[in-house]
Amino acid sequence: AKSLEFIKTNVEGKVGIIQLNRPKALNALCDGLMQEVNAAAQSFDKDDNIAAIILTGSEKAFAAGADIKEMATREFIDVYNQSMFSSWGDITKIKKPVIAAVNGFALGGGCELAMMCDMIIAGDKAKFGQPEIKLGTIPGAGGTQRLIRAIGKSKAMHLVLTGDMIDAHQAERDGLVAKVVPADKLMEEALIVANKIASYSLPITRMAKEAVNSSFEMSLQEGLKYEGRLFYATFATADQKEGMDAFVNKRAPTFKHH
Ligand code: CAA
Repeated sequence: AKSLEFIKTNVEGKVGIIQLNRPKALNALCDGLMQEVNAAAQSFDKDDNIAAIILTGSEKAFAAGADIKEMATREFIDVYNQSMFSSWGDITKIKKPVIAAVNGFALGGGCELAMMCDMIIAGDKAKFGQPEIKLGTIPGAGGTQRLIRAIGKSKAMHLVLTGDMIDAHQAERDGLVAKVVPADKLMEEALIVANKIASYSLPITRMAKEAVNSSFEMSLQEGLKYEGRLFYATFATADQKEGMDAFVNKRAPTFKHH
């Protein structure tokens, strides 16, 4: 386990865990915190012993948003010249699966960060929202774009325009969250999912993630073609031979990750 200024990292088996650790500010996402998150995720992505990544916060807060105290006095020209938040998206370039394990508040940038991950597993006390409107601003790290893809226009507009929060069960019904579990079982459940993913072939998992993510960027015809290319590519791997041979011979596969 490693403790940095704003995060803690840990490895459990083949799963790399990044825990936001700025409790006094409810894990508000200051610049330094996001730099540490991206660096940790990139280092797990490069580590051959890691097959999946979990991003989590505390029981009280996954993250209560961008750091309002840090932003409050910035001028247009500051945030424009810095392209504020543009580097947050680096987490979406991670090739291994990233699971957001959310307890407590996931608000503003916190909700946006969770949506940048490949799936969200939530504790039953979690709360999601885009309250920027209450601060006289709007979501700036993907909230207006990713929320609509996750839950549709009417529900996205409702969250963005009212600033209201939804609870974990509502978020699951709306399709924002993959699974809700009792709050105290969150990490246990996230690790079960991460370990299951890690038990499969890593290059195939990466292709599956890449194919699903391509649907956000492409038309249906282009996306189907892209999926097809990746599907055919799986037949160039030893693991496709292994997985199918194991099925045919009624035995468990042993994936070789190539
Ligand atoms: N930025 C900076 N500090 C924050 C913060 C944030 N986003 N959220 C909470 N904190 C700080 C509080 O200021 C407080 O610090 P002090 O002890 O120094 O006063 C500490 O964390 C604890 O917070 P509260 O006392 O407010 O805790 P609470 O339990 O009463 O309320 C809460 C919890 C409802 C989440 C409330 O803290 C809150 O509304 N936070 C702000 C949520 C928000 O507006 N997020 C959007 C930010 S803008 C954004 O994210 C832009 C973007 O698109 C990227």
